[in-house]
Amino acid sequence: MQKAISTANGGTSDFVRALHDGLSEPQKNIPSRFFYDANGSLLFAEITTLEEYYPTLTELSILEQNADQIAADAGPNCLLVEFGSGSGFGSCKKTEILLDKLENVAGYVSIDISPTALLEAEQRRLERYPTLQVSAVVADFSRKLNLSGVAEGARRVGFFPGSTVGNLLSDEVVDLLSNFREILGQDSLLVVGLDLQKDHGTLLKAYDDSKGVTAAFNLNLLERANREAAANFDLSAFQHKAIYNSVMERIEMHLVSLRAQEVTVAGITFDFREGETIHTENSHKYTIEGFTALCLKAGWRVERIMTDPKRMFGVFALKIAG
Ligand code: TRP
Repeated sequence: MQKAISTANGGTSDFVRALHDGLSEPQKNIPSRFFYDANGSLLFAEITTLEEYYPTLTELSILEQNADQIAADAGPNCLLVEFGSGSGFGSCKKTEILLDKLENVAGYVSIDISPTALLEAEQRRLERYPTLQVSAVVADFSRKLNLSGVAEGARRVGFFPGSTVGNLLSDEVVDLLSNFREILGQDSLLVVGLDLQKDHGTLLKAYDDSKGVTAAFNLNLLERANREAAANFDLSAFQHKAIYNSVMERIEMHLVSLRAQEVTVAGITFDFREGETIHTENSHKYTIEGFTALCLKAGWRVERIMTDPKRMFGVFALKIAG
């Protein structure tokens, strides 16, 4: 197996290392965190406006329908803690639906690893809610994080929309939800948006839209590798592919090599067979029962499930079990 070698200045970037490691595995892969460069973030924002990508529009309508109920569950004077910065079309609106309804909110904290996304979101909040106490925390929310000192004593209401939790493997979901429990503390509420199982045709269209935006989003990984990791991917020789994996109950995103070819990434050459794929993302689809069981494992009980008439998407309000 080929392994990454450091460049002369010792500066093998995180991206180069991830490409070298991922493309060396039997199932080639690129970690999905590299999707969101400037171009990728724009393309993703466009995906969330597409009719075929039903999760964003459906989650928005569920939140609109249930905002009063969520505000009642949260109670007055709470601190809203958003995991992810909530930038981009749909997620800005989702947060605003809650902020508009929460009674006498004590403050708003967003936690994200991207400082630019945080700044953008913070700016938007301050424009719309000039008197709101806004804090931004640059951190990886899958790690330990201490919010003590921020609106001390206020009930914390965590918000994790967009079915981002579906992009993790089930063990990772349990770890993340446990960590949210520790960050938010006793008596907190956690509101999680989650895409549900449904017919495969609807799912496949959501991840392979007719305008080709999702295809461009997926292929942007290779363009980014060419720009930032000294790679020479021929973009016309790879194609976006979404499949439903019935065993794992998830949509998988791949990039298919259309011919046998060699690609060099920062000095290391990788062989591709015709039809071989690079796995780039998973989006797990749950039943209400399946997700409830994961929540319990992480120490949360389901207080309320809000869904749309067709039961496409679920918004779960969780409280600490025990
Ligand atoms: N959390 C989103 C989802 O799983 C992320 C997403 C939507 C996505 N479309 C995508 C990720 C296309 C990669 C490619 O639905």
